[in-house]
Amino acid sequence: MRLFVALALPETVRWQLRLLSGGLPGARWVEPENFHITLRFIGEVDGAEFHDIDAALAGIRAPSFTVSLSGVGHFGSGAKLRSLWVGVDKQPALNHLRDKVESAVVRAGLSPDGQKYQPHVTLARSKGEPTPKLGDYLVNHNLFRSAPFEVTHFTLFSSYLSHNGAIYTPERSYELASRLYSKVS
Ligand code: 2AM
Repeated sequence: MRLFVALALPETVRWQLRLLSGGLPGARWVEPENFHITLRFIGEVDGAEFHDIDAALAGIRAPSFTVSLSGVGHFGSGAKLRSLWVGVDKQPALNHLRDKVESAVVRAGLSPDGQKYQPHVTLARSKGEPTPKLGDYLVNHNLFRSAPFEVTHFTLFSSYLSHNGAIYTPERSYELASRLYSKVS
């Protein structure tokens, strides 16, 4: 199975993001139920690897935190646009969690992810067609801001690539320590 670790988004935020999903011909929009912030892409694993990764993630102790989304950006451009995304506001606790997830999956046997972590929520991927309206889209939506929301857990998702697009299924969920609890412990 194909796995990734991510933060699910509250329905209110997914609803807000859905309002950004249009106005860019050549874009293949992500279904609102699939919006998420990836912490770590894992890829194909077998049952034994799944078990080791799950056990390592379950051992993570990290505090819950608040995060908000703002602005729009993209990977690739012109005829080579790869994806369009909403940014995640700087939140050291998110990077702390990402580092813990990275160490856990490496302990479970994966190769380290050498890439710099750039948290984002993918709104659309390219259909491989030119996207001449990308500049207009960015100008029109760059002031986007979500309400801050509480991140109380992270999730191990499986991803199944069907004809109608990706189907993401939460396989395991891991609680973060409540801030009250982490202060007194
Ligand atoms: P993206 O949103 O920037 O495309 C599930 O596929 C999630 O894992 C996506 O959010 C995707 O990020 C992320 N991911 C990171 N590296 C990937 C890869 N090599 N293949 C597929 N998805 C990847």
